[in-house]
This record gives sequence, structure tokens and C-alpha cells, in this order.
Amino acid sequence: MFHKVGPDETGGKLITVWIDDQPIAAEENEPLAAVLLRVEPYTSRMTPLSGAPRAPYCMMGVCFECLVEIDGMASSRGCMAQAREGMNIQRQVRRPDPLTEYGQ
Ligand code: FES
Repeated sequence: MFHKVGPDETGGKLITVWIDDQPIAAEENEPLAAVLLRVEPYTSRMTPLSGAPRAPYCMMGVCFECLVEIDGMASSRGCMAQAREGMNIQRQVRRPDPLTEYGQ
């Protein structure tokens, strides 16, 4: 679907993030939603009621279609988070428990 222009073109530092336990090359500080849009199945989450796949849409923190679990924090907006070395991202496939999965 999408592909990243090379770090030679942007001057960025290449790092590795983990999406659903798969190592993925990203550019340091790249929005995670941009990374998700170039990794199959190109989605960020499944809706809790129907299970329909959703993908980042607005890329500016408004639509909440990019919700993912980032380093154990459920329902984090992928477009507002920047890639860091070793970051662990899980696509959300269910409704998180607000009492235990949203942190403090
Ligand atoms: S893509 Fe819309 S809130 Fe992140």
C-alpha cells in the first residue's frame, strides 16, 4: 500500500519497532500510524462490536481509528506516538478493560 522513502532521502535514523511481535524497520520519531499503514494487513485495530478492520485515517489525533496498544498501554493513538527503538505495538483486536489496561 504505502512505502517509506529511504533514510538517505530524509536524513532519519533507522530503528526497529515490533508490531504484533514482528520486527519492522521505521525511522526514529516517525508517527506509528504511518508505520502501520505500510505493514500488512494495513490496519490498526478491529472494532469491538463487529470486528471490522480499521486503519489510521486523519493522522492528526481526531478520528481515533489508529488506536493500538503501545508498550502495554491500550487505546493509544498511533498517529500521536513517535517511533522509538524497541517499541512494542499490538493491534487492538478487542475492547480493552478500562480498569486494568489504561495505566495510571
Ligand atoms: S489517525 Fe485519526 S486519531 Fe490517529
